[in-house]
Amino acid sequence: MIYRSILLFVAVICLASCQDKKEEINFPKTDLAKAPLIPKPIKTISTGSAFGLDANTVIYTSGTDSEFEKVGVFLSEHIKKKTGLDIGVNSSTENQSDRLIYINQSDSVALDNPESYQLYIKKDSIFLNAKTAAGAFRGIQTLRQLIPETSNDTLTDHPLWVIPTGKILDGPKFGYRGSMLDVARHFFTVEEVKKYIDALAYYKFNVLHLHLSDDQGWRIEIKSWPKLTEVGGATEVGGGKGGFYTQEQYKDLVAYAADRHITIVPEIDMPGHTNAASVSYPFLNGNGKEIKPYTGTRVGFSTFDARKDTVYSFLDDVIGEIAAMTPGPYFHIGGDESHVTKKSDYIHFVEKVEKIVQKHGKRMIGWNEIAQANISSNSIAQLWNEPKNALKAAENGSKIIISPAKKAYLDMQYDSISEYGLHWAGYIPVDVGYKWNPETYVEGLPKESILGIEAPLWSETISNSSELEYLAFPRLIGYAELGWSPSEHLDWEGYRERLAAQVPYLKAMQINYYPTKLVDWKKD
Ligand code: ACM
Repeated sequence: MIYRSILLFVAVICLASCQDKKEEINFPKTDLAKAPLIPKPIKTISTGSAFGLDANTVIYTSGTDSEFEKVGVFLSEHIKKKTGLDIGVNSSTENQSDRLIYINQSDSVALDNPESYQLYIKKDSIFLNAKTAAGAFRGIQTLRQLIPETSNDTLTDHPLWVIPTGKILDGPKFGYRGSMLDVARHFFTVEEVKKYIDALAYYKFNVLHLHLSDDQGWRIEIKSWPKLTEVGGATEVGGGKGGFYTQEQYKDLVAYAADRHITIVPEIDMPGHTNAASVSYPFLNGNGKEIKPYTGTRVGFSTFDARKDTVYSFLDDVIGEIAAMTPGPYFHIGGDESHVTKKSDYIHFVEKVEKIVQKHGKRMIGWNEIAQANISSNSIAQLWNEPKNALKAAENGSKIIISPAKKAYLDMQYDSISEYGLHWAGYIPVDVGYKWNPETYVEGLPKESILGIEAPLWSETISNSSELEYLAFPRLIGYAELGWSPSEHLDWEGYRERLAAQVPYLKAMQINYYPTKLVDWKKD
């Protein structure tokens, strides 16, 4: 810590003393407020000049928290990917540095949320203030978005990436900003999920909900019940070979997400959507019918036997093993579309499973149907189709995640001619996906009851990254903004222009997207 302070002191002194010797660069006039940032920051003030990112830039990080240094390293790696520049983090100042990026742990009262940050961009320095490493991490995504795709090679004798100067004061609207990936209907590999996490991080999401089990497949190794993956993991929609994550792979995904300040929410969907589990262990089955593997797309035909003690012993093992690998606070029990579970059995089941989730130290989340049970106020209901159940849960003191199928389901088709996806909840063109307000969507739901927003991507019709991305992009980018930016600052026309400017990022990341005609996409 002391060593780092001395380094910083030397860097700042050097920066000050080098000013006279340095050539004055004649930057073109800039306007930070016009930068196509998504999500749109709360407040941006332009000062019209520029910071020239070049080989003489250094990054320093402060704080007793080594996580701040990790944020600095993440920034350095991404600057390298985008520009080729090799920028040291907390390295010695032997090589004279002209410009400084300083990531500072600050206790400023203006930083009112753990994910808030302040970015002060001047000609020779960029100061990023945040209370926590998560806030610093969100702030460096803004900085990444401000670095242009190409260098300006005419201003001086070496390449320089021109970043507009000014101030950004920013923080999130909601503490929970997520997307869900259905890895059960079709399996997605660790690498495919990591690619999705990278994009989530860039747009300041902080949750990835993994739908790990359904009728067509079980995707997470449970050591005490190996047939779940040996049998239940071997199928998927359409008859493909399925797949599953070993516990090591799951932990690797959790760690990868945590490095990006993203929490993984694991979901085991039950008591319905459980055909793959019951095929693996038929004693679980409660629908009274012969059980066989299922690779179609119907819903609502399967159920666990909610009156059998052995089902709850099984669930204690499953939830226990997953909870032990999941540092985040949540465990999602699904609970949707249990059409062949008697209502009294359903209620009994949800109340028992909630206790198991709590016993393993987690907070239960369930789809809005769980509000029919007498759930704890600490449990969370995820609205997808029944506002009345969201209201009921909120009256009971529960928080609500807003994911209405009609507005936020990434697997709804854009229109009648777009590829992939379904349309049972309607078509969701890119503007319709953006032009709604999660704070007022459920009439009568108090804002204080809203935990956040999540955009689920169900995978009946998609089986690889390119198809996944076609449905997720560009709509996911709009949900990032609806989750982060103050609702009163948002308008489709302004967003549309900023969205058009995301093309270089999407291309650089090799992210496929649906090129809707509603947006004048930036040409190369
Ligand atoms: C759901 O779409 N069945 C939650």
